[in-house]
Amino acid sequence: MRTLTGITPSGTLHIGNYFGAMRPAIEAQARGDCFYFIADYHSMTTVTDAAERRTNTRGIALDWLACGLDPKTSVFWRQSDVPEVCELTWMIGSLTPMGLLERAHSFKDKTAKGIAANFGLFAYPVLMAADILLYDTQRVPVGRDQKQHVEMTRDIAIKFNEAYGETFVVPESEIRDEVAVVPGLDGQKMSKSYGNTIEIFGDEKALRKKIMGIKMDSRTPAEPKPDADQNLAIQLLRLVAPADVARDHEQRLRAGGLGYGDLKKALFEHYWAYFAIARARRAELAADPGYVDSVLRDGAERARAVADGVLARARKACGLD
Ligand code: ADP
Ligand code: TRP
Repeated sequence: MRTLTGITPSGTLHIGNYFGAMRPAIEAQARGDCFYFIADYHSMTTVTDAAERRTNTRGIALDWLACGLDPKTSVFWRQSDVPEVCELTWMIGSLTPMGLLERAHSFKDKTAKGIAANFGLFAYPVLMAADILLYDTQRVPVGRDQKQHVEMTRDIAIKFNEAYGETFVVPESEIRDEVAVVPGLDGQKMSKSYGNTIEIFGDEKALRKKIMGIKMDSRTPAEPKPDADQNLAIQLLRLVAPADVARDHEQRLRAGGLGYGDLKKALFEHYWAYFAIARARRAELAADPGYVDSVLRDGAERARAVADGVLARARKACGLD
């Protein structure tokens, strides 16, 4: 069962990304046949600074490798290293109805906000469909916001198969419903667009300050807190501390006696320890820039070996051979 997903290189990753997307993807490696790529072509619809794209791409590669992406087990590459995906985008784009693209959230939301649309933004779901179809993908794990794009991919694959004969595997999306939404520093969904994030990697002092700055109510430490399970620091502690430690803090908060300052201190310590190994590994990897390059180069070769076969099949089917 081939699993494939794309990671957009936009900005610094936070623990919402980690628990919502990275950890499940890393765990999925145990099932084998995972294809993970950095969607740098997709980033062109939002990022227009070359240096920024290079830095983001490199940073995200380091983040994933440090957190446990195993480039021996999984195929890990940079989208633009297999530019054949653009040829497939054209082939399937010519079968994609305008109406389907006009209904895409990625396009509708941006234009509704008054952002001037360009061809790249409009064609975004077609490129994403090409990403998926080019590798005979069966399963596409994505966040809920991307579900529509995978459905469009299915429509496009079926259309192509009807027009030119069985060519593409029709993929299924896998929505991670079991992963709760990780709350941010203000209690809303953690998101880089809300400025409420706790980064996975970053400066210790600044991150400690962020966590110690979480706003709590004005009840005194001694006061019992029957709503302890709703407390933001408890919710975050559950993610990064052993279950008994989180439970113990929750009970002490409920009974009264645990102050918010001490609770936040515990949260910071556990968060910092949780990512300690990944942090050390990231520093090691960052010190050897040749390593990341070689991982991505090798990944691109392995990805291309699959892509070449599928593209040849598609070209033959539509008479481009
Ligand atoms: P952001 O909201 O910060 O822009 P993205 O939209 O780039 O994050 O999300 C990348 C991945 O991380 C998606 O698969 C998304 O579902 C997941 N993700 C983002 N924020 C959270 C969160 N707060 N809780 C759980 N998963 C999240
Ligand atoms: N659009 C996806 C996102 O923003 C990233 C992506 C690009 C992707 N190509 C893909 C995800 C193919 C899954 C499959 O998160």
